[in-house]
Amino acid sequence: MINNHNLYIIVAADQEFGIGRDGKMPWNLKNELKHFQEVTTKTEDPDKQNMVLMGRTTWDSIPENHRPLKNRKNVVLTRNSDFVADGAVVATSLEEAFLLADDKTEDIYVIGGGRVYSDVTSMPQLDGIYLTQIHDIFECDTHFPVIPESFGEPVNMGGSEDDDISYNYLFYKRQG
Ligand SMILES: NC(=O)c1ccc[n+]([C@@H]2O[C@H](COP(=O)([O-])OP(=O)(O)OC[C@H]3O[C@@H](n4cnc5c(N)ncnc54)[C@H](OP(=O)(O)O)[C@@H]3O)[C@@H](O)[C@H]2O)c1
Repeated sequence: MINNHNLYIIVAADQEFGIGRDGKMPWNLKNELKHFQEVTTKTEDPDKQNMVLMGRTTWDSIPENHRPLKNRKNVVLTRNSDFVADGAVVATSLEEAFLLADDKTEDIYVIGGGRVYSDVTSMPQLDGIYLTQIHDIFECDTHFPVIPESFGEPVNMGGSEDDDISYNYLFYKRQG
């Protein structure tokens, strides 16, 4: 938890925990994208929105007509304080980003990429990881870190398929 906000990671990874190649995702899974949108957008309190927190490379990889991600508070991490991200708020450190979660913010979802996942996976405040496990192998140059043992076995929340590529939605909850 960060100041009463749940802190989650959401990621899609292949069987080797590959998550990206050449600054993009090496797959195009429509149902998975829908799942991502549902999980990161839904709130219990209709007056609140979730924060989606991402690295600058991930922001750059979202097509301009799809950003900012709608109905969510978009926060982009960069060490360049002059960086302009239309429709999003820029933060120059994780600490600064977390301070942007206010009383209108419900949960915080870290949505990538590799650099940001690495930093947040090791944080004791991380409450859970939504992992879409893709049953295939892609040639990735960016990978998800090893999930700490403190998360135990995941809960399988179902699965789906796009263009003959199947995948499962797993949820790792911090134990104890
Ligand atoms: N499969 C998935 O679910 C998924 C999700 C998201 C992304 N991806 C993929 O992951 C790849 C991108 O990952 P990446 O590791 O290359 O880049 P990234 O994590 O998206 O962004 C890295 C950049 O974010 C900024 N940054 C990161 N940590 C920071 C910190 N603590 N403080 C200030 N700034 C910080 C820096 O920006 P500056 O250089 O501007 O300082 C850094 O160069 C792409 O291939 C993308 O498609 C996959």
